[in-house]
Amino acid sequence: MEPLIILLITIVPLLLGIFIFRQNSDHPNLPPGSFGWPIIGETIQFLFNKPENFVMHRMKNHSPDIFKTTILGEKTAVICGPNGHKFLFSNENKIFTAFRPHPMQSLFRSYKTPPPPQPTTATPEDDAKILRQPGFLKPEALMRFLAAMDAITQQNLKIHWEGKDEVKVNLVSKTITLELACRFFIGIDDSEWVAGVLARFDDVTLGLHSLVVNFPGTVFYRANKAATAIRKELVAMIRKKKAALVKGVSMQDILSHLIVVKDAAGKCMPEEEIADKIMGLIVAGYSTVATVMTFFMKYVGLNPGIYDKIRSEQLAVSSSKKPGEYLNWEDMSKMKYSWNVICETMRHVPPLQGTFREALTGFTYAGYTVPKGWKVYWTVGTTNMNPQYFSNPDKFNPSRYDEGELPIPYTYVPFGGGPRMCPGKEYARLAILTFVHNVVTKYRWDVLCPEEKVIGDMMPTPEKGLPIRLHSHDL
Ligand code: HEM
Repeated sequence: MEPLIILLITIVPLLLGIFIFRQNSDHPNLPPGSFGWPIIGETIQFLFNKPENFVMHRMKNHSPDIFKTTILGEKTAVICGPNGHKFLFSNENKIFTAFRPHPMQSLFRSYKTPPPPQPTTATPEDDAKILRQPGFLKPEALMRFLAAMDAITQQNLKIHWEGKDEVKVNLVSKTITLELACRFFIGIDDSEWVAGVLARFDDVTLGLHSLVVNFPGTVFYRANKAATAIRKELVAMIRKKKAALVKGVSMQDILSHLIVVKDAAGKCMPEEEIADKIMGLIVAGYSTVATVMTFFMKYVGLNPGIYDKIRSEQLAVSSSKKPGEYLNWEDMSKMKYSWNVICETMRHVPPLQGTFREALTGFTYAGYTVPKGWKVYWTVGTTNMNPQYFSNPDKFNPSRYDEGELPIPYTYVPFGGGPRMCPGKEYARLAILTFVHNVVTKYRWDVLCPEEKVIGDMMPTPEKGLPIRLHSHDL
């Protein structure tokens, strides 16, 4: 055998052994698990294996409570199961703070373009504060928006589905949700603009969980290019809005609020930073909602009994209204079964797998110690499809959420929990139920590729866009 090969065979495992030993010996009593390969860690397995497979496999091999890994360049403890979720959600800002992985930080950093604003701590954490504080997503604000939500949904279904035999659901659900987000967050009422930026928002969303390799052809490169283009468009829009605000035009959207709001020192936010925050909000609230709408169509299309029950619930809502009257708050409270179906859709296809935190202090959980500064990841994948918490987990069964049969606390957390729970939950509920109401009252449909592959583990998408055959009830 070549001396070089012999050297490699002996040296490489030795170096790896020393690497692993040094990593563990710095901190005894770390959670079980593997850091994977130097630098890359287990990122490839995390990004390209089904997320629930990634966690379930390691929970089985290491511990059902917590395991260590390295993902997206960070030493990470993955905290599992309902007790893990409870521990994490109840120790927000005590043990844990938000952390956005490197691809997110790179895509949402606005200090690349001149004139450079002050180094900013702009993160989606701030976006959440914006949404929570001025009450943009409180019921009173959403109530006012509900009629517009209904109108936008109806209009899109009319344009894209009316008179058609075969359609693809995914494009329409994305068009609707992006149009809603643009109207509500930035006050834009321009379908053409929305259609033009849709692919860019998809690129950014895909880049959020990607390897930070900024080289033509990579996912991150495309995302970065798209983020730069969106930011440019948003800055132009901010300037137009500023001019209109100076003239006294009144505006109700979140973007206008960010333009006028001042910090403690009386300074307005730099334009690039506003653009970044708005882009973060749209990304958070667009594809998540569209994913639910798309997979709702799939599961309900494949389950005629469930379709019949939803339809009778939705017809009861429409029969209580005058012709042409838009949905209102009270109507939403009558859609309980429909919401159960949505919950079951999100259990099968979680629109957001989970998020990261950073440990503010070292902590002990399930007998293991996690050092300060480590990242902590929680994911719905540790409970959603676990037969311990959901009997017959592969079955699509909305009755699981009937009163008296609710899931065990912290086993079903599609929106997270605790102080950092998704601030867009109520907005998402209204947007999805509005969609459900309109499609179910107008159409029945056949899913044309029931076995269609789902691609994109972090942004689940039916490979062919979910083609369906429509049967209009008006005919
Ligand atoms: C079905 C749709 C949605 C699902 C399943 C979903 C799920 C989630 C989850 C799991 C988190 C992480 C919570 C945590 O870290 O503990 C989150 C955070 C967030 N969501 Fe949503 N979301 C949805 C829709 C929306 C919408 C429509 C918006 C905006 C209007 C939005 C804005 C945000 C923001 C800003 C955060 C960050 C919160 C923070 O870090 O404090 N989401 N969402």
